[in-house]
Amino acid sequence: MKQLGVIILAAGLGKRMRSAKPKVLHTLAGKPLLSRVLAATQRLHPDRLVVVVGHQAEEVQQVCGGDGITFALQREQRGTGDAVRSAQSAFSDFQGDILIACGDTPMLTTATLAQFVQEHHAHEATLSVLTVELPAPGNYGRVIRTANGQIVKIVEARDASPEERAVREINSGIYCVKSAFLFSALERLQPINAQGEYYLTDIVAQAVAAGLPAQAVLTANAYEVEGINAREELAVMEKTRQAQLRSHWMSMGVTLEDPDTVYIGEEVTIGQDTIIGPNTQLKGKTTIGARCRIDGSAYVEDCTIGDDVQLYFSVVLRESELGNRTSVGPFAHLRGGTVLAPRAEIGNFVEVKKSIIGEHSKAKHLAYLGDTEVGQDSNIGAGTITCNYDGFKKQKTKIGDRVQVGSDTTLVAPITIADDVYIATATTVRKDVPAGALVFNTREEQIREGWTAAKRAKEGPKQKS
Ligand code: UD1
Ligand code: CA
Repeated sequence: MKQLGVIILAAGLGKRMRSAKPKVLHTLAGKPLLSRVLAATQRLHPDRLVVVVGHQAEEVQQVCGGDGITFALQREQRGTGDAVRSAQSAFSDFQGDILIACGDTPMLTTATLAQFVQEHHAHEATLSVLTVELPAPGNYGRVIRTANGQIVKIVEARDASPEERAVREINSGIYCVKSAFLFSALERLQPINAQGEYYLTDIVAQAVAAGLPAQAVLTANAYEVEGINAREELAVMEKTRQAQLRSHWMSMGVTLEDPDTVYIGEEVTIGQDTIIGPNTQLKGKTTIGARCRIDGSAYVEDCTIGDDVQLYFSVVLRESELGNRTSVGPFAHLRGGTVLAPRAEIGNFVEVKKSIIGEHSKAKHLAYLGDTEVGQDSNIGAGTITCNYDGFKKQKTKIGDRVQVGSDTTLVAPITIADDVYIATATTVRKDVPAGALVFNTREEQIREGWTAAKRAKEGPKQKS
């Protein structure tokens, strides 16, 4: 078995993005461009994998994770050839082929790469470059061949003659090269071109001049090798990826009522027979079970949602866990650390933060529950507020099983309400309440009959404003 190494170039800033953030950290379907390229190459199980970093190297490394990845630092971005050269020390004892890819081609698939490597082996090539034909080749490097189709060189658009610019076959930026040739060729690069950079592409002409077998492998999957250089290109690609993700989930048995308005992140999963209404955004590491119903205008990020869950119109859910047969909304907000046990219900204008709501317990109207634990079969009345912040610290509220919290209750934390407690309406509770007790405040209302008429007589007719 031949050894396979991989080098991914990710040192550039990406000037055309006009961003403080390195280009390869911008995201497609919520996943950094570089992570996508990494994943595609990792599935080839290479013997060695090197990522060349430079601009904001630390942030870029963090996104890569550590497993089996070596990082090479390119201190100054002097071109793609110089970038590959900075990975040389990681291959000092390596004999085999090196697959080179750019961190800015996020649609690359493992299947295309695997086939490319296979073609490289089949032709016993010293150098292979993956190419595509584009109707509008733009700024890509042009692939120059002889009359009988043999590759001669790659010329960058800026350095190309008008005839060369007319060529529609372009360099994808993906190469497979014998390592011994690669690193010796890189030493001979000269920065004699429009950008004054060390071009990796120049190694093609070197292989040809040395009479070594070099080939251009033309693939039909043009969109896969598209590089992202500017924000608008990223937006166009996002559209393509979203369409693919929607098709995928529909093919898996998910109904999208108005597909064009649903956004689905790369790492989201959705169960069979779930129905998703318009304007829904599913982001991050979100998992949705089977037979759920999402009415629409929902924003869901990093949530785990069970089966048969109902999300009524207009909800915002973040970092929350929803058990089977729970329901949320309309107009509700679940914030980080919220857990709904099976069959719990959160209704209109309820905000829940870092709280556990027990099985079959409900808070159906106008409430705030923060840092709270509610047991089973309890009912939180309309307008209930947990006063969880005393101005210094967040305090906890504990509510037991079968508790009836009357409407307009304020619970001043830290506080514990034991099982089977009844809280009368409009009660402010400051002390712990033992099991089975009734708690209420004594402040009786006063009634003065005829008061309104007397007041009106005294004040005279109402002034119109
Ligand atoms: C490059 C190719 C071009 C090809 C295109 C495909 C060269 C000279 N040109 O052009 O033929 O059609 O890719 O997308 O290779 N990078 C570094 N260090 C550097 C320079 C670049 O790590 O010093 C990295 C960038 O972060 C990026 C990748 O290399 O991920 C490609 O660089 P970029 O400047 O985008 O090259 P293109 O101009 O697109
Ligand atoms: Ca590019």
